[in-house]
Amino acid sequence: MADAASSPQLKQAFQTHLKETDGQVKRLEQIFQILQADPAGNTCEATQGLIEEAEEIMEQGLSPEVLDVALIMAAQKVEHYEIASYGSLNAGGDVRDDGCRQAA
Ligand SMILES: [Fe+2]
Repeated sequence: MADAASSPQLKQAFQTHLKETDGQVKRLEQIFQILQADPAGNTCEATQGLIEEAEEIMEQGLSPEVLDVALIMAAQKVEHYEIASYGSLNAGGDVRDDGCRQAA
């Protein structure tokens, strides 16, 4: 998406976010290592679909300005899904086996 963006600011935003994401992955790998747990995960079909949608957008031959807007929309969809997923995991982490929330 950074390569497809024409705005220098948008390219930079995508590149910065990619570095942030790489850092998040490294931190998660460290946490799994500390917990002596296997970090192997599953493919998220919903995210995969959002990525395919972004790839389709990039193949539509849109003008650079319209493509930048479409890329922002595609990225926002991924980010909102990510936020919802992490928010749910965070909330679920506070729930005990009996379904009650743990005291903070
Ligand atoms: Fe993200």
